[in-house]
Amino acid sequence: MFAVYAESFDENDPLTGLVVGERPDPEVPEGWTVVTVRAASLNHHDLFSLRGVGLGEDALPMILGCDAAGIDEDGREVVVHAIIGNPSWVGDETLDPHRSLLSERHPGTFAERVAVPRRNVVVKPASLSFEEAACLPTAWLTAYRMLFTRGGVVPGETVLVQGAGGGVSTAAITLGRAAGVRVLVTSRDAAKAQRAVELGAHEAFEHGARLPVKVDAVLDTVGRATWSHSIRALKPGGRLITSGTTSGPDLESAELTRIFFLQLSVVGSTMGTRGELVRMLSLLDASGARPLIHQAMPFERAREGFAAMAHGDLFGKIVFTTAPSQW
Ligand SMILES: NC(=O)c1ccc[n+]([C@@H]2O[C@H](COP(=O)([O-])OP(=O)(O)OC[C@H]3O[C@@H](n4cnc5c(N)ncnc54)[C@H](OP(=O)(O)O)[C@@H]3O)[C@@H](O)[C@H]2O)c1
Repeated sequence: MFAVYAESFDENDPLTGLVVGERPDPEVPEGWTVVTVRAASLNHHDLFSLRGVGLGEDALPMILGCDAAGIDEDGREVVVHAIIGNPSWVGDETLDPHRSLLSERHPGTFAERVAVPRRNVVVKPASLSFEEAACLPTAWLTAYRMLFTRGGVVPGETVLVQGAGGGVSTAAITLGRAAGVRVLVTSRDAAKAQRAVELGAHEAFEHGARLPVKVDAVLDTVGRATWSHSIRALKPGGRLITSGTTSGPDLESAELTRIFFLQLSVVGSTMGTRGELVRMLSLLDASGARPLIHQAMPFERAREGFAAMAHGDLFGKIVFTTAPSQW
């Protein structure tokens, strides 16, 4: 079948090992099902894989891709949940130490067909297109869990989202706005800040700017470059939810004095559960909020999509689509 896969690793030039070609059909273990992919979206995870992060040489060649929407063996329109857990694990699968993401141990979604455990398919609301639904299982699910589960954000609260242009950040802006949250954002780029406001943020600021109010929660995926600002932006008792370190993990100051004196909470968050994916789909269906697609393109042009992400000039998601001849 047609597939987009990693053949080798290159830390500095990840596109070197990217192949747009053919791979055998997926093996289907007992209890798994096959989804015929209609659309799949690109994540930083796919670039990390081509750099050899989270993927061993022995796993090559590996079909890339965590996110997809398509048709399952029963003919249902479905979204694929990307976390493959240990079958004996009970409870929140993001806490399963043996979990993996599609494309780490099992072939990913950038192919005509992907095999997943039956519990990993979730019915797609008819109101969402395949392209929209394919944006949701990684960056959007991460933003949903940061905001509502780990952040405990409720309607009427004020949230600061650091780094307005990011995949997780744009999702957080849209989800927060849909849920009645006041959303402030920062960006290094005035054009991105303006686009964040058009997307639904109430106000946008330069990185590090003094804000007009203290906020209930900060969503920070940037790390080192924004950490002190995030801590200083919080009200007493506020929460900082962290899920990434795009600018690096080592801090100039952890701001410990402020954390204890103002009784702040620092909360880690990673991916999300199947139950959270179901609730997020329902939120989008009910609210009419939709993921922002930077560009949709056929799988055959995957290299172009990877290059755009590597250059960092995105606002929203890159989506790959299959052709009717591949269904
Ligand atoms: N834990 C999880 O489950 C999980 C899931 C998804 C992603 N992540 C992580 O979360 C991070 C963000 O992912 P993403 O897909 O949203 O990435 P992204 O699309 O590249 O966005 C990152 C944003 O961070 C800001 N930024 C980047 N470098 C910066 C710097 N040096 N100083 C200040 N701001 C900077 C930029 O915002 P502006 O240009 O607007 O300033 C950029 O748009 C990544 O590190 C990713 O690995 C974690």
